[in-house]
Amino acid sequence: MKEGRDDLLAALEGRGWQSGAAIAASLGVSRAAVWKRVERLRERGYGIEAVAGRGYRLVRDSDLLLPDAIRKHYRPTLLRGEIVHRTTIDSTNRLAAELARAGAEEGTTVVAEQQTAGRGRLGRTWVSPASVNLYASIVLRPGIPPLDVPRLTLVAGLAVAEAIRDSGSFAPRIKWPNDVLLGGRKVAGVLTELEAEADRVRFVIVGIGVNLNAARADFPPELRRKATSLAIAGGTPVARAAFTGRLLTRLDAAWATFLEGGFAALRHRYDELHGLVGVAVTIDGAPPLAGTVRGVDDGGALLVEAEGTIRRVVSGEVTLRDTYRALRRGRA
Ligand code: BTN
Repeated sequence: MKEGRDDLLAALEGRGWQSGAAIAASLGVSRAAVWKRVERLRERGYGIEAVAGRGYRLVRDSDLLLPDAIRKHYRPTLLRGEIVHRTTIDSTNRLAAELARAGAEEGTTVVAEQQTAGRGRLGRTWVSPASVNLYASIVLRPGIPPLDVPRLTLVAGLAVAEAIRDSGSFAPRIKWPNDVLLGGRKVAGVLTELEAEADRVRFVIVGIGVNLNAARADFPPELRRKATSLAIAGGTPVARAAFTGRLLTRLDAAWATFLEGGFAALRHRYDELHGLVGVAVTIDGAPPLAGTVRGVDDGGALLVEAEGTIRRVVSGEVTLRDTYRALRRGRA
């Protein structure tokens, strides 16, 4: 997994044709290694021509998540705040919370090429390699009680799944509350964090990570069977700034619907993409709950049928009793 700016890219940028031998010498690697790295950069969306006798030439930059590039695909109605871009950051959620504390308006969005301390749910780490994926955090200021905030996570999960569905012939499935999977493997996650008083939310940060162009080698070995990216699943790289615009557009629209009608107004759309319905699961807890998922209710709670009774689950980690096979419906 590369960190920071790639030295091969630096050797190619703004210089026209460069011979393989010259690049190899300047980087201190073999010509075969240069070729392999050129291939990796191409997988990440860089356009690099290779011609025998001339060498290599960079013809198209990869699409960085620059605010102007994102705005070409994003006309918000409600989430009008600034888009803040960082090349490297510890966590976009951390910076978004700092901006919100300083008064940033609703819709302020932090995007980064790379996170050095990306946070996942339940204290986990979110693997955040440079320039391949999307890491975004959006400031929301909902007038809802803190107890209702988990519903926002479902709204964000829905927007992510819809944006992925808009991006080709993908069949994403949501794993309640907000994991998004392709072919049973996790492609995106949402981490919602909030600052609140007892009965009033000061702000919510909706943090979204989507694996867009990560190659299998970008994931640590223990995640390679569980995680995927749009590029792995679809076979071609995704234009990241355009995807980000589509995702924010979906979020903006879902947010407007949520403010008007609550989660109930989005429930049918969530149901369409929910991959757990009819699936045998166990919810952690003491004692754990084993049953079959029947859907979600108007408050976003998971409905689990156990011993003939429907139980509402508002939080908890869902484990599929039958591995992820149950979610491998549809195209990966
Ligand atoms: C999960 O565990 O499924 C949630 C992952 C959320 C990751 C995103 S990446 C952008 C934002 N910044 C973070 O540090 N985390 C979230």
